[in-house]
Amino acid sequence: MIGSMVHQLIENATIDEIKAAGLESYYTDHKKGIYPMNASGVPFTAAYLESTSDPIANLSEDMAAEQKARATYENLIDLATDPEVIGPLLFLRQREVVHFNRFHELYDYYKKKGY
Ligand SMILES: [Fe+2]
Repeated sequence: MIGSMVHQLIENATIDEIKAAGLESYYTDHKKGIYPMNASGVPFTAAYLESTSDPIANLSEDMAAEQKARATYENLIDLATDPEVIGPLLFLRQREVVHFNRFHELYDYYKKKGY
């Protein structure tokens, strides 16, 4: 969804608008293509995904990831001014809350089973 939002925001942007948004470096490397990376320009990598055979360890990491995603969406909402951007960000933020709660239920389930 974020990639689609970025695409919709920049697909018709002029060079002057791209410069005004501070996206010259991005444009130089990717033009208007979508390139998944964090706000500091570090590309997404599957190395971020950890997995062990321990459900408590895995679920703890999953819950932390959901909270980090929620916090990132809240930071983006703080920066956004376009209601058509804020609306989807609020939806995505709420999804992270739901994901966290589902993972937490599984965490509690495994804890009760003695893991
Ligand atoms: Fe999530």
